[in-house]
Amino acid sequence: MSATVAVPQTQHAGEIERYTFAERLMHWLSGFTYLYCLGTGLAFYSPHLFWIAYVLGGAPTSRFWHPIVAIVFVLGTVWMHVLWSRDMEMTEGDKRWLDGIQAYITNHDEQLPLADRFNAGQKLYYWLMVYGALFLLFSGIFLWFPEYVPRQAAWVRRVMILVHEVAALVTIGGFIIHIYMSVFMEPASVTAMTTGYVNRGWARTYHRLWYLRVTGQKE
Ligand code: HEM
Repeated sequence: MSATVAVPQTQHAGEIERYTFAERLMHWLSGFTYLYCLGTGLAFYSPHLFWIAYVLGGAPTSRFWHPIVAIVFVLGTVWMHVLWSRDMEMTEGDKRWLDGIQAYITNHDEQLPLADRFNAGQKLYYWLMVYGALFLLFSGIFLWFPEYVPRQAAWVRRVMILVHEVAALVTIGGFIIHIYMSVFMEPASVTAMTTGYVNRGWARTYHRLWYLRVTGQKE
């Protein structure tokens, strides 16, 4: 007599669901709104990059939409926090993973503690964007409504420009690493964020703890 093995709903055709539709929508919303703010922000930042504003519809259009699209970016980040904050909590294993990051860079993943749904590098990037968004929002409001900053406190606006620029630069650094890692180092992760699915081998290799949990396997 053969026993029927129940296949969890999250698996089909040898693949495992990695991202739900809501997670993918949230991710692309945050990504594209960030990219728009990045392009327009760089145009305001340097005369050498002012051409970006022309490409994006002109300077007044860019100045008008930058803070509004940025609010959508912040809302996307809040949504991300609702969906992912638990998966992004740093564990003892993550701290050891970060201590051994050299092994990751040199492709010796087998020497690292097993990763859960996200590895420690992905978690770091996540927290960088969450705090980055907070700093960008806080400082951006001062730049958005300068008429409410009294003349005697003009220095406040100057400080906020600096905070906005530093927060932008730090998130740009993380963003470049994120694109490089996902597009060039782990292209399966781009497929996952597009289709929602990964193959079992990939899940087992890169996110073993998560793989064992969602498949109910022991090893
Ligand atoms: C989160 C909410 C945000 C708000 C409310 C906001 C608002 C603004 C405003 C009003 C300006 C000034 C434009 C001007 O009159 O010169 C500005 C500049 C800028 N923004 Fe944002 N922004 C936000 C997010 C972002 C994001 C996500 C980025 C992407 C990296 C970004 C990058 C920049 C840069 C580089 C500048 C130029 C700073 C300078 O003048 O040197 N901002 N922002």
